[in-house]
Amino acid sequence: MQITIIDHPLAQSRLSIMRDKRTDNSGFRAALADLGAMLVYEAARDLTTEEFPLETPVASTEGKRLRKPPFIVPIIRAGLGMVDPALSMIPDAQVGFIGLARDEETHQPVPYLEALPHDMSEETVFLVDPMLATGGSLLHAIKLLVERGAKDITAVCMVSAEEGVNALKESGYPVRLVTAVIDPSLNEDAYIVPGLGDAGDRLYGPRNIDL
Ligand code: PRP
Ligand code: URA
Repeated sequence: MQITIIDHPLAQSRLSIMRDKRTDNSGFRAALADLGAMLVYEAARDLTTEEFPLETPVASTEGKRLRKPPFIVPIIRAGLGMVDPALSMIPDAQVGFIGLARDEETHQPVPYLEALPHDMSEETVFLVDPMLATGGSLLHAIKLLVERGAKDITAVCMVSAEEGVNALKESGYPVRLVTAVIDPSLNEDAYIVPGLGDAGDRLYGPRNIDL
């Protein structure tokens, strides 16, 4: 599995703001938006472009544009914070949605929303979620995409745990990972260590949903 770690100084400084427990919700949202744009920018590096003729004020030349924009799929809730930054990089991308909430006892993902096209076989999918912990949520989301024919999936995560990365590798799914860091472990509540806490809560406040 291809893994790209973005250790750019600007990415790492935004990540440190997010990790810092003193950062309030608005500071966390702002840093997440900046880092989200940087990770999507890097995830888009291998997209194919096509040339088209254009006129500058001075002469005729060839322009370049994406042959086909990727399809952005956030895992709600925390992934929602990455949608606007992704669209700021790729304004003509379409967006689908997967809603999952981790059960606090079992740590298994509980699905509550699927808003995706039936046929994704021609799509390049950017699956965005700030956190990859056990890997359960990401694997569930990838399964939904693969069932719709997706063959080209890039998971864009901010903090990935070694355990989740290994689960992704072992799954054999057609996925590559772009992340800002791989953290070494999980605690007894399956939170990433050192991590940054609960990304959804830090973006939006406590989750109010009965599983
Ligand atoms: C978080 C995070 C991932 C998941 C990662 O979401 O955004 O989706 O946990 O954990 P995993 O790799 O062990 O599955 P959470 O379920 O807390 O929901 P939220 O975004 O609504 O807070
Ligand atoms: N989800 C989060 O938001 N944070 C973690 O550390 C693990 C799962």
